[in-house]
Amino acid sequence: MCIVGARPNFMKMAPILRAFAEHQPPLPALLVHTGQHYDASMSDQLFADLRLPRPDLNLEVGSGSHAVQTAEVMKRFEPALDEHKPSCVLVVGDVNSTLACSLVAVKKGVPVVHVEAGLRSGDRRMPEEINRVLTDQISDRLYTTERSALGNLQREGIAAERVCFAGNVMIDSLHASRPQARPAADTLKAHGADPALLRAEAGYGVVTLHRPSNVDQADTLRLLLETLRAVSERLPLVFALHPRTRANIERFGLGGLIDARRMVLLPPQGYLEMLGLMGGATVVLTDSGGLQEETTALGVPCLTLRENTERPITVEQGTNTMVGRDVQAILTGVDDILAGRGKRGRVPEYWDGHAADRIAADLHRWLHDQAPTP
Ligand code: UD1
Repeated sequence: MCIVGARPNFMKMAPILRAFAEHQPPLPALLVHTGQHYDASMSDQLFADLRLPRPDLNLEVGSGSHAVQTAEVMKRFEPALDEHKPSCVLVVGDVNSTLACSLVAVKKGVPVVHVEAGLRSGDRRMPEEINRVLTDQISDRLYTTERSALGNLQREGIAAERVCFAGNVMIDSLHASRPQARPAADTLKAHGADPALLRAEAGYGVVTLHRPSNVDQADTLRLLLETLRAVSERLPLVFALHPRTRANIERFGLGGLIDARRMVLLPPQGYLEMLGLMGGATVVLTDSGGLQEETTALGVPCLTLRENTERPITVEQGTNTMVGRDVQAILTGVDDILAGRGKRGRVPEYWDGHAADRIAADLHRWLHDQAPTP
């Protein structure tokens, strides 16, 4: 049983399901959507863009506090697991659905397989960090995206034999979809914005922000919007707004900080739209984990508006620079990029479009080894 719940899970699962279907022999899979994300723009659109099959099962949990959401996934997943009796439960990433389904499975004696294991920000105030640490602890087979993840896992007492370095499945999706990326000008036109903005001398920047630590407090969000306004004086910005961020801008009355002539606000974008927007950008400013990796794969400079990252390889080898919420660091970062001093980076090992194939091959072997001998 393969689990997805929230937006960043979908681009990881799509290549895995394809690799399972193409493997000889094929690895049969049931796709379960917990319904953590449910809006058409956060879920259906991505399913279509990524050519994900319709889920076999949708648990329709919806939004809630961490406790409510996690508990609801667990309650609804348990009977499904009892009914289907899979040989393993495969989870990806670090969202609440990842941990909730892993926890149900391990207590039923069903092996848990975690794709994107071992990433650590070291910041336990992040809900995702808790989800990562706990999911890895109860996983039987762990697939990592970068070599440093193994050290993180071993420090937490996880044996190296359980870990397999497979590479980055999210980059498999990027390779598969890049030819279909939607040109940025078309995306702007579709939302009634003037595509001439993209042809500014300095190019344009892409912004996404949705971490609770950045958008849930009025003062922090105000500071970030003021900083983005200063950035937008240097180059126009396209800001794809997560529902959490849009709601908070309205709730805190901060809409006035956005200069509509220099900053286009868009609803959450589909996968092909985001690929097109990022691919043509001069810089991406974000607090997303996925975008840090995608910009590294695309060779586009990224400024990450966080204090830490669980994806250090994007800084060490890729195009990522951590700038926190430090106004001066953000503006200097942008100025450096505009002056041609942005990081060029290189694509990390095994971010080559074949991570899911490696997972399918290894998992097939591993499941075979687990099966009781007759
Ligand atoms: C979740 C993940 C985060 C991931 C992010 C990507 C956890 C702990 N967090 O955060 O790791 O980076 O997804 O988007 O699992 N909402 C909608 N429509 C939807 C879904 C959510 O409007 O389809 C709104 C609701 O008001 C909801 C809020 O967004 O309360 C937050 O959604 P939630 O799933 O709780 O967390 P995210 O912030 O999306």
